[in-house]
Amino acid sequence: MTTQEFRDLFPILKRKVYGKDLVYLDNAATSQRPQSVLDKFLRLSRESNANIYRAVHKLSAEATDAYEQAREAARAFINAGSREEIIFTSGCTAAINTVAYSFGQAFVQAGDTIVVGEGEHHSNLVPWQLLCERTGASLRILPIDDKGHWDLSTLKELLLAGKSGEGAAGAPQRVKLVAVTHISNVLGLVNPVEEVIRLSHAAGVPVLVDGAQGIVHERVDVQAMDCDFYAFSGHKVYAATGTGVLYGKKQWLEQMPPFLSGGEMVGTVTLDHADFAGLPHKFEAGTGNFASIATFPEAFETALMARDPDIADACESVCAYLEEALRARGDVRLYGEPGTIADAATGASRPAYRRAGVFSFTIDGVHHEDVAQVLDKMGIAVRSGLMCAEPVIRHFGVNGMVRASLAPYNTMEEAETFIKCLDKAVNLLR
Ligand SMILES: Cc1ncc(COP(=O)(O)O)c(C=O)c1O
Repeated sequence: MTTQEFRDLFPILKRKVYGKDLVYLDNAATSQRPQSVLDKFLRLSRESNANIYRAVHKLSAEATDAYEQAREAARAFINAGSREEIIFTSGCTAAINTVAYSFGQAFVQAGDTIVVGEGEHHSNLVPWQLLCERTGASLRILPIDDKGHWDLSTLKELLLAGKSGEGAAGAPQRVKLVAVTHISNVLGLVNPVEEVIRLSHAAGVPVLVDGAQGIVHERVDVQAMDCDFYAFSGHKVYAATGTGVLYGKKQWLEQMPPFLSGGEMVGTVTLDHADFAGLPHKFEAGTGNFASIATFPEAFETALMARDPDIADACESVCAYLEEALRARGDVRLYGEPGTIADAATGASRPAYRRAGVFSFTIDGVHHEDVAQVLDKMGIAVRSGLMCAEPVIRHFGVNGMVRASLAPYNTMEEAETFIKCLDKAVNLLR
């Protein structure tokens, strides 16, 4: 399949903005939807709209079938061991909050610690801050260096201190969870999450991976990765918006209390007590976002098409071109650098922190918002500002960046247009 054929699946990419061809480079915020996803959403809304699980009638059965097919599609897409481990949520944020609340309620107490990466999206930082405030636990940071790479020796120290240190009131201090991002939405580097998981598990600590960007650019196999939780949004991987998945190992989900409560997540309810449904329903209170979730099979099928070697090669060329073109400009500071880490088994250094289609940068003497606004008028959609990840932006001593983020439907021609327009924008603004 060619990039053009893949691109043709997405009707919005044919539209014009301000009379110019749209060049959509804000894919890390949300990806566009293929016709198959739009059709599925519309067909189900038109023909099978009913409340899932609730009723015996035909429409409800069709809606429920579509919802459960989506669960199987999500299970297969990340190679989870069973459908019970796939919890539907409204997005990655809701998935992480579910763990922060439910895992927190079951396992986190005053004196415990939670470790989070310095480069996290607010969705994988603030829920842990709030958990610590609720429980009296404390947050520890896995720092990044100026290339955007994790300082794994600090992680080792934190895990070791967790084993031997003293927490509040003299109780033994324990690291209860490590929460890190697979790919930062700012730096765009594929983090060595497997290494974090290996080190954490060796200390008996479970790991949550924020996969909002990872699910888009990597082949995620949660069993091979051995993460305890993996959270992602559907809308970044071609599905309808308001959709997400929390993958959790059954051994944890079974021990965690529900997050939200209400209809369909219960077993028996009396006026003073309720017991709960089994997995995954225990974590799915209320009416699910059925017509949107039901677009998962088509969305993941689209994601699999993008793995066609021709498309993957074309994508790599566009990435390499942008990396080179941005670095070639003396006035651009591009954040995040590909690098290496020491292999756990041999100690030899191996490649890591590959850039996955996300380019965040600043330009000397021009404001990021101005650049984004001028580009917009040229038909180019990029993101600018703090990108819901203020600490990582501040790490680099700036108050905002411009971000161009790619999807496999972006062509070399678009990348060249972007670089030319960036040049024009900077000349206009200086
Ligand atoms: C790394 C990362 N984590 C979490 C999120 C939150 O995703 P959502 O807003 O879809 O819940 C995002 C969204 O940009 C992200 O990039």
